[in-house]
Amino acid sequence: MAERSIYRTFALADQRTSALELPPHSTTPVGTPTPGGQLVDTRGRNLRDLRISVTDRCNFRCSYCMPKEVFNQDYPYLPHAALLSFEEITRLAQQFVQLGVQKIRLTGGEPLLRKNLEALIAQLAAMRTLQGEPLDLTLTTNGSLLARKAKALKAAGLGRVTVSLDGLSDAVFRRMNDVDFPVADVLAGLDAAHAAGLGPIKVNMVVKRGTNDHEILPMARHFRGSGMVLRFIEYMDVGTSNGWRLDDVMPSRDVIALIQRDMPLVPLEPSAPGETAQRWGYADANGAYDPAAGEVGVISSVTQAFCGDCNRARLSTEGQLYLCLFAARGYDLKALLRGSASDADIGNALAAIWSGRSDRYSELRATLASSGTPTPRVEMSYIGG
Ligand code: GTP
Ligand code: 5AD
Ligand code: SF4
Ligand code: SF4
Repeated sequence: MAERSIYRTFALADQRTSALELPPHSTTPVGTPTPGGQLVDTRGRNLRDLRISVTDRCNFRCSYCMPKEVFNQDYPYLPHAALLSFEEITRLAQQFVQLGVQKIRLTGGEPLLRKNLEALIAQLAAMRTLQGEPLDLTLTTNGSLLARKAKALKAAGLGRVTVSLDGLSDAVFRRMNDVDFPVADVLAGLDAAHAAGLGPIKVNMVVKRGTNDHEILPMARHFRGSGMVLRFIEYMDVGTSNGWRLDDVMPSRDVIALIQRDMPLVPLEPSAPGETAQRWGYADANGAYDPAAGEVGVISSVTQAFCGDCNRARLSTEGQLYLCLFAARGYDLKALLRGSASDADIGNALAAIWSGRSDRYSELRATLASSGTPTPRVEMSYIGG
């Protein structure tokens, strides 16, 4: 209990306010990718994936992300004036794309709560990568507003969606979201996204041992052959308010073993460099991958860290740039945007920040935990998954 209260103090002491120092302005581009080359950090990792949080609010209260006791009516959410405008987000995104970003994911909180999100999507959809291709433009949502919004999102230029769904049983799902939201509405959202062409659709299930692990098989059976890719995520110690314990983590190897007993699986090759999920395909009667049955994935940040090729950067709702999901502090890009910095200055600053990156929290988790000192960490609802 004493330990829990230290964590809460961190949450309330608010990691959001103290920014890291920006690299000094320089007219010489630092770490700019060479033609045909890529920007790399101190561990040789490329910058490919930008996650943009468009709101720190959510209409769910999943205990692993925004537990009710912390995220109550007294919680200091960001005031509207603190949020980056769509124009500011687009300006930053353009600089990221110039540095090699190919995928942009909109997150929250719940991104569909942000008013007129379609306007931002349209601006981002118009961008082209350094190779002249459209961006892989995607969005993570809890699905509660998807039935209403899928068509408009597609029309605005969104490529695909990833929907969080922690169980198929209505009772379990209502308990997981902790606001009594019915599972049928999220399933209707998935259908609407499918009908609108927002695929390939991914479904993310965070597994908490003893809470929703009995939903693994029903979920696997439901999504097998649906064309949607179900992924099981190890419950992580992200943020400081969820009271994380290692005992609550169900290792991915146990998830795979459980499914294997019922539906044989074969390992599949990664589909992209730096992918978070390990892929498994459903096997046919001959033991070969059956594409019609599809695949499942496991995201094993706790038992098999994947920091080695982490290519993700995260932009918070108010314009702080976080590199690692477990970082305590970000870089204040809003100060640059609202100051006198030119686009080139911003690009140089981003390149310098990425070039200096060395973090790899998940690989160091065990060592840090054994040091006994709780590390301050930003909440996931603030920087997005
Ligand atoms: P796709 O391109 O759709 O496969 O996206 P993705 O693999 O980046 O996955 P997504 O954004 O759906 O992330 C799924 C979950 O993986 C997140 O909700 C997090 O729980 C976890 N995750 C994503 N990125 C990271 C990361 O950089 N570090 C860690 N530790 N976990 C991550
Ligand atoms: N552990 C793992 N994943 C988490 N998410 C949020 N909190 C956690 C956590 N503690 C991820 C889930 C959810 C997305 C919005 O964020 O994947 O689907
Ligand atoms: Fe909201 Fe997603 Fe966090 Fe649940 S996991 S509280 S749906 S942002
Ligand atoms: Fe990347 Fe940090 Fe996640 Fe490791 S823990 S994969 S460095 S975001």
